[in-house]
Amino acid sequence: MNIVPVAIIVLVMVAFSQLSKRNILRLNVVAWMVIWWLAIYFALSYGINPPLPASIIGMFMFIVSLALAAYLTTSTDDMEAAKSAFVNFIINPRYALPLILVMIGLPVVSAYNVYSDMTQPPQPPLSTRTIHPPPPPSITFKGKTIDLIEDENPYRALKTDNPAEFAKHVENGRRVYFQNCVYCHGDNMAGRGIFAHGFDPIPANFRDPTTIAMLQETYLFWRIAKGGPGLPAEATPWLSAMPAWEKFLSEEEIWDVIIFMYEFTNQEPRAKEELH
Ligand code: HEC
Repeated sequence: MNIVPVAIIVLVMVAFSQLSKRNILRLNVVAWMVIWWLAIYFALSYGINPPLPASIIGMFMFIVSLALAAYLTTSTDDMEAAKSAFVNFIINPRYALPLILVMIGLPVVSAYNVYSDMTQPPQPPLSTRTIHPPPPPSITFKGKTIDLIEDENPYRALKTDNPAEFAKHVENGRRVYFQNCVYCHGDNMAGRGIFAHGFDPIPANFRDPTTIAMLQETYLFWRIAKGGPGLPAEATPWLSAMPAWEKFLSEEEIWDVIIFMYEFTNQEPRAKEELH
């Protein structure tokens, strides 16, 4: 609660009630309703921290208006007083100027509201990001076609068939990773490399179960080879800083770094789908 605005509102209300009690100011029931309405409006708008959204204030003020109207109907005298105040305002020549101001002011306020609603500066549309767009069926890597559906990591089978040979590929992958990828994807592969904070989206966190653990190795091959520039249209707007490594790494180096990424994070690639 913001004490200062609330205290001011309470003081103003007390002042009004004292003035009318001592008959210095003669306020009819309509004037009191307007004063209460404004007091509640200012209390809701400036007295609450964090501020309420305008739509909520609008809702509360609608209820307050209903409550004040209900209050008015509880007394026939008040109803009569309100009615004669309105009639008086409209037909008494004393109020000609305020009446004209109200009649011009109301349409001007609503016209201004419509105008300001329609001239809001345009906002970019909300765009959701497709983090893992479907891959193309095949890619061309240095003139060779790689079938992303049928092909497999050629060194994967060594893990069971020839562990010593497999270890060499893991080591080569380690070298590739720490020479090229660590700056962005981080030394523990959590996507927090020293450059990472300069990018949006930040580099992928390979420890997160929603990245490499749910992807096939050919998918990774595609993403590493073609990088951010190779993302399909549905993945945009998506200015991923991931470089296209086909310009710098050999096919074997890419398969090796993929193996290393799974070994290092203790994860298994997603199995190939059985199409037959
Ligand atoms: C310049 C920074 C940078 C470097 C260097 C970099 N990456 Fe990336 N990488 C990114 C960004 C950014 C993304 C996209 C992040 C996202 O998917 O939210 C990404 C995404 C990926 C993805 C896709 C992950 C997924 O879940 O779809 C793979 C795989 C990947 N990188 C592997 C590598 C490998 C391997 C290397 C080293 C050869 C490397 N990256 C080097 C920035 C980099």
